[in-house]
Amino acid sequence: MCSQEAFQAQRSQLVGLLVSGSLEGFESILDLLLSWEVLSWEDYEGLRLVGQPLSHLARRLLDTVWNKGTWGCQKLIAAVQEAQDSSQCPELHGCWDPHSLHPAQDLQSHRPAIVRRLYSHVEGVLDLALEQGFISQYECDEIRLPIFTSSQRARRLLDLATVKANGLAAFLLQHVQKLPVSLSLPFEAAACKKYMSKLRTIVAAQSRFLSTYDGAENLCLEDIYTENTLEVRTEVGMAGPLHKSPAALGLEELFSPNGHLNEDADTVLVVGEAGSGKSTLLQQVHLLWATGQDFQEFLFVFPFSCRQLQCVARPLSVMTLLFEHCCWPDVGQQDVFQFLLDHPDRILLTFDGFDEFKFKFTDHERHCSPTDPTSVQTLLFNLLQGNLLKNARKVLTSRPDAVSAFLRKYVRTEFNLKGFSEEGIELYLRKCHREPGVADRLIHLLQTTSALHGLCHLPVFSWMVSKCHQELLLQDGGSPKTTTDMYLLILQHFLRHASLPDSASQGLGPSLLQGRLPTLLRLGQLALWGLGMCCYVFSAQQLQAAQVDPDDISLGFLVQAQGVVPGSTAPLEFLHITFQCFLAAFYLVLSTDVPTASLRYLFNCRRPGSSPLSRLLPRLCVQGSEHKESTVAALLQKTEPHNLQITAAFLAGLLSREHRDLLAACQASERSLLRRRACARWCLARSLHKHFRSIPPAVPGEAKSMHAMPGFLWLIRSLYEMQEERLAQEAVRGLNVEHLKLTFCGVGPAECAALAFVLRHLRRPVALQLDHNSVGDIGVEQLLPCLGACKALYLRDNNISDRGICKLIEHALHCEQLQKLALFNNKLTDGCAHSVAQLLACKQNFLALRLGNNHITAEGAQVLAEGLRDNSSLQFLGFWGNKVGDKGAQALAEALSDHQSLKWLSLVGNNIGSVGAQALASMLEKNVALEELCLEENHLQDAGVCSLAEGLKRNSSLKVLKLSNNCITFVGAEALLQALASNDTILEVWKREEYSRSNFLPRLNSWTSAQPLSPLVLPLSLDCCT
Ligand SMILES: Nc1ncnc2c1ncn2[C@@H]1O[C@H](COP(=O)(O)OP(=O)(O)OP(=O)(O)O)[C@@H](O)[C@H]1O
Ligand SMILES: [Mg+2]
Repeated sequence: MCSQEAFQAQRSQLVGLLVSGSLEGFESILDLLLSWEVLSWEDYEGLRLVGQPLSHLARRLLDTVWNKGTWGCQKLIAAVQEAQDSSQCPELHGCWDPHSLHPAQDLQSHRPAIVRRLYSHVEGVLDLALEQGFISQYECDEIRLPIFTSSQRARRLLDLATVKANGLAAFLLQHVQKLPVSLSLPFEAAACKKYMSKLRTIVAAQSRFLSTYDGAENLCLEDIYTENTLEVRTEVGMAGPLHKSPAALGLEELFSPNGHLNEDADTVLVVGEAGSGKSTLLQQVHLLWATGQDFQEFLFVFPFSCRQLQCVARPLSVMTLLFEHCCWPDVGQQDVFQFLLDHPDRILLTFDGFDEFKFKFTDHERHCSPTDPTSVQTLLFNLLQGNLLKNARKVLTSRPDAVSAFLRKYVRTEFNLKGFSEEGIELYLRKCHREPGVADRLIHLLQTTSALHGLCHLPVFSWMVSKCHQELLLQDGGSPKTTTDMYLLILQHFLRHASLPDSASQGLGPSLLQGRLPTLLRLGQLALWGLGMCCYVFSAQQLQAAQVDPDDISLGFLVQAQGVVPGSTAPLEFLHITFQCFLAAFYLVLSTDVPTASLRYLFNCRRPGSSPLSRLLPRLCVQGSEHKESTVAALLQKTEPHNLQITAAFLAGLLSREHRDLLAACQASERSLLRRRACARWCLARSLHKHFRSIPPAVPGEAKSMHAMPGFLWLIRSLYEMQEERLAQEAVRGLNVEHLKLTFCGVGPAECAALAFVLRHLRRPVALQLDHNSVGDIGVEQLLPCLGACKALYLRDNNISDRGICKLIEHALHCEQLQKLALFNNKLTDGCAHSVAQLLACKQNFLALRLGNNHITAEGAQVLAEGLRDNSSLQFLGFWGNKVGDKGAQALAEALSDHQSLKWLSLVGNNIGSVGAQALASMLEKNVALEELCLEENHLQDAGVCSLAEGLKRNSSLKVLKLSNNCITFVGAEALLQALASNDTILEVWKREEYSRSNFLPRLNSWTSAQPLSPLVLPLSLDCCT
């Protein structure tokens, strides 16, 4: 039984149920409600508005049935149930009188069965109805619009019959009765089955192996795949104050019904930096599906790569996209396609690398016909918006820069892919090196080289470390530090493998490099051209035009493009986009054809202009000799900003002093190399200063603060690659801010190293805010060099554990300026309590410590309290959302009894009961400094509050006491009121419980009117009445 109230209480679940399936599911529920006469024809017409979001319609349906009373609500629930059951059973055996005297009425009361019977024959029935004059050509065309599925066409035909009094209803009733009852859904049909099996085979073959540099080694994805940190992105501001850090999710969560930004959208977006593992994640999804291990709710999975799609020049339809660019049905193309259109909810389309799609997302051009061809970008954008194959799931991966607010409108759920955790790196290396000892040695190397360890959070670096393990383990000292070091190491590895075996132990000496210089320059020129043209896949003709020969290819940087249509000649692509950038930077540094002045375009990150030159560019061929100078500048201007930034960082790294000798040996003119270096230095310093100049002046009364603009981190990273102290020093000379904010900026350990390299030269200390990033323990370690230049460090939501914090404190003890630490929402436990206590005891100028939402228990609080006893400077202490309990509260209270400086203490949500409250009350009696005590969300009862009230009577410093969300009744409230009568310091008491107001409110009002309340204060009366 379902009352209207119960129905209303379940409303959000019901909306979820109604929109979780396809439109087909929703419409079959309408069929049932129509046939049971729950919905009138008028109701029904209001619910089938084409183009309305499904959630909109679902809510309208709930309102409609609600208005019909309990009966209507019960019927809706029955219809949902029945629709679910009947979707399991393919055919409803309807039984109706074909010669009924009320055909329109019967059509309606047998509607579910008639739709089921009609839908696979609707084309033939339409032809017949047209031929016999029951419908006009126009009506027929309207029903046949390509946006409708077969069952939608069947329904539209029935709808037409309801309003047309020309015998169409009688015709249908008779004719449909004669249609064969198909015993199974058409996907049982041979053509569909064959297609499904072919698609699985193709996808399995494409996803089984990870592409490797020389093709000599086949890495099975299954053997190597390591879980990557995937987090759902929630809207900023939606999270409440106690919002926990996003949990790491499994792949299966990609399609989970939770965390939707837009429940009407079909597209799931996975965002991650270059090399964070987006393509590999999709490959794993494909493999799990193709081998039947997961995602079996999809009958069809169609993988696409944006870099390849953008090469499709001629117009294409959904049909050509699926069949010609993914898998061709050998038989029954039309049937298979119709089945796909009819069951979009069983289809998954994946589009990898949206950042490599040269067209920017727009929703200007609407295209709804799955059979009409259009441009590839219009097709993709309409698929993502759901104008095509509505209800088919789409997964799109992209680097962050290519995701616009425009695109986000059509995103159902957005995930951040953050790379390997520390355990992940270790696991990955063990999977790669099963031979004894190698993985152990590599892991040890990483643990002792934190710069390299920091890089490995990006899977592509872990892969490089694994690839170059021999070189790394052979090296005595001087492990790679910067990204450029790492890429030079892999270059050495490739060159070594391509040359004679006896050179195996040799490093990347000038001779090794010089020998293959022409090859590297040709590859570099191709890479640069590709970046400028947004071309990441190269045809045989393009390779020929760039004079890249098979010998060059054998070096291993170019590999066969993934996911190529079977039968076509496989184009080549760079092993990874970062290699394309690295080789382009190599070319820019070493080619004699590159004028030094053109390098400045690398650091400008300007969008392509509409200069005559950039319009001309597509016509310039790769090696167009007379335009070389302008070609380089134009190519750089047209390169995607993110790729440009990566290339700029490599260029800075290659031009660093560290690698000068290596490159000088290959360079005809050393002067030219010096000129390029000077140019890069000048550009970097200038760009940074430009950035600093754009910071708005401070708001009067507030500290001057700077929120990092896009590009700032990359400038800093480029400076780091150059490894030049003086340059870093000069660069920050112009930075005059007190608060540097880099929240939600994707700061990982590598960025921390770069920030520290530069910020440690600051003359005036800053508050460095790095909330909501992926700093982690290794990142904390990387930040240590700049700790001395920080007066405050905010690290909320950064996956930091005790290990990281202990290291941080070890350093903080010697940093005179550092006075505030905020570590809300990390992974801290009692294990860090000794360090934190030491910080409090030893640093007598320390002001604020916020440890909220960690895992500190009574044990940790007791240790910390010891530190607090010896401290005389702390003003703010935050423990919100830990588990200190009564014992912890007791320890802290005792330590605070005669504390002279603490003004604010938060113990919100810490399982504190009466015993803890009693201790805090005793503290209040003696303490003369505390101004605000936050005790919301605990287990305080009247007894505890009575103790606090007693404490308040003798206290003369506390101004705010927060007690909301405890178990206090009017007894506790009365005690508080009495205490307030004899306390004239307190300004606010927050409570939220309901009392009998009759005798309470008047006295409360008399208290509030007697208090000098400021307008910002929330008085007791307001709070307790909510
Ligand atoms: N989950 C994983 N398990 C094992 N190896 C991985 C994983 N993810 C990535 N890798 C390794 O890292 C390399 C780079 O990853 P991938 O190409 O998936 O990054 P990406 O995010 O798609 O980068 P881009 O933005 O440049 O396309 C892969 O070739 C693979 O060797
Ligand atoms: Mg990729």
